[in-house]
Amino acid sequence: MDKRLLTCAELCTGDFVCDVGTDHGYLPCFMIKEKMCEKAVACDVAEKPLRSAEEHIRREGLADRIKTVLSDGLDSVEPEEITDVVMAGMGGELISELLGKCEWIRIRKVNLVLQPMTKWDVLRKWLYENGFEVKKEKACIEGQFVYSVMQAEYIGRQPCYRCSERYLHFGFIKPEGDGKEYIKRQAQRLLTAGKGMLRSEDKKALGEKLVALAESELEQL
Ligand SMILES: C[S@@+](CC[C@H](N)C(=O)[O-])C[C@H]1O[C@@H](n2cnc3c(N)ncnc32)[C@H](O)[C@@H]1O
Repeated sequence: MDKRLLTCAELCTGDFVCDVGTDHGYLPCFMIKEKMCEKAVACDVAEKPLRSAEEHIRREGLADRIKTVLSDGLDSVEPEEITDVVMAGMGGELISELLGKCEWIRIRKVNLVLQPMTKWDVLRKWLYENGFEVKKEKACIEGQFVYSVMQAEYIGRQPCYRCSERYLHFGFIKPEGDGKEYIKRQAQRLLTAGKGMLRSEDKKALGEKLVALAESELEQL
């Protein structure tokens, strides 16, 4: 179990977890074996990863506790008593799209654990504009990468924090532990992107803003 998926598991709060885009099925198997949940649904849009999850679940002897479902996002998943939905290892745009298609995560106020590989700013903005509140965010270093994992819930109104440019790129990650490296890498990315924009007349103003934001973050580390 890698640290990225472990962080996702730690941000789950209930006893019935649905892992969307499960691939190998490691997360639900780990959570049941570690008694972090009672039951799980492992779903994936593609047959091959779902077969691999089924194989892993069978080998671990957990077929009576983990149901597998072929599903585009949560489209074919029955809400049952699901308490937590994990979407990890996918792009922020895809995660936003899959959340946007599902009604029951709103009605039942499911705990959402979201780990975008790309476009974290798009996901943070989408959550903010669609009535979801990010309650907690944790950074974790895994190999040469640093990830952010968000815990969110539908509240049906705009959250009371500001959706600033800083928030979109750094979220609620604090400059401590693995968070320090997350902020450093995000700032370096912004600095490169911002400097690139300085060359274009219509993007110059945004470029200057991003460079200033990145430099200020790096100075404070
Ligand atoms: C990179 S893997 C991530 C696996 C695991 N969640 C993790 O974080 O290690 C992405 C998985 O998401 C699945 N996926 C992509 N689009 C999906 C969708 N629309 N609905 C459900 N699963 C999807 C892919 O088939 C693949 O198995």
